[in-house]
Amino acid sequence: MKRVIIPALLVSFSFASVIEEYLTNLKNEVIKEKPDFKGFDTKRGEEIFTSKHLGKKGKEISCSSCHGIDLTKSHQNFFTAKVIEPLSPKANPQRLTDKKKIDKWLKRNFNDVYKREGTPKEKGDVLSFIMSK
Ligand code: HEC
Repeated sequence: MKRVIIPALLVSFSFASVIEEYLTNLKNEVIKEKPDFKGFDTKRGEEIFTSKHLGKKGKEISCSSCHGIDLTKSHQNFFTAKVIEPLSPKANPQRLTDKKKIDKWLKRNFNDVYKREGTPKEKGDVLSFIMSK
């Protein structure tokens, strides 16, 4: 008799999305320094995203200068005028699905606006804000 073997074990399920894991890792980093940390805050994230700072190129810019105020809409890059697709994962499902891309652009974009890397708390706050949009 022939038997069919179903390769059930080859199918793996992943329950936490990339961004959920990303935020959990950031949260664990914050807790290392601050054990009573309560969690990320979209209001602080909004302030980080919309406030202007003297950026890397000597111009007053914010994250919104390139990504806009309405994150469900595309916007022009402040320096190159190239169109940037919406940052909101609700409007653009590819957003926040690739860890390397999040790492790369957060590092680069914090440098553009703040002339330094974001702290784990700032990154968690701003990502929570983006996800809420
Ligand atoms: C000078 C223009 C500019 C500024 C200022 C800027 N960004 Fe970006 N950002 C980009 C570009 C360009 C990309 C990559 C192209 C793309 O993904 O559409 C990007 C990509 C991203 C991504 C990757 C999202 C993904 O998963 O696809 C995140 C997150 C992000 N930016 C957050 C921020 C935050 C937070 C700030 C403020 C600290 C900021 N950006 C400021 C231009 C900018």
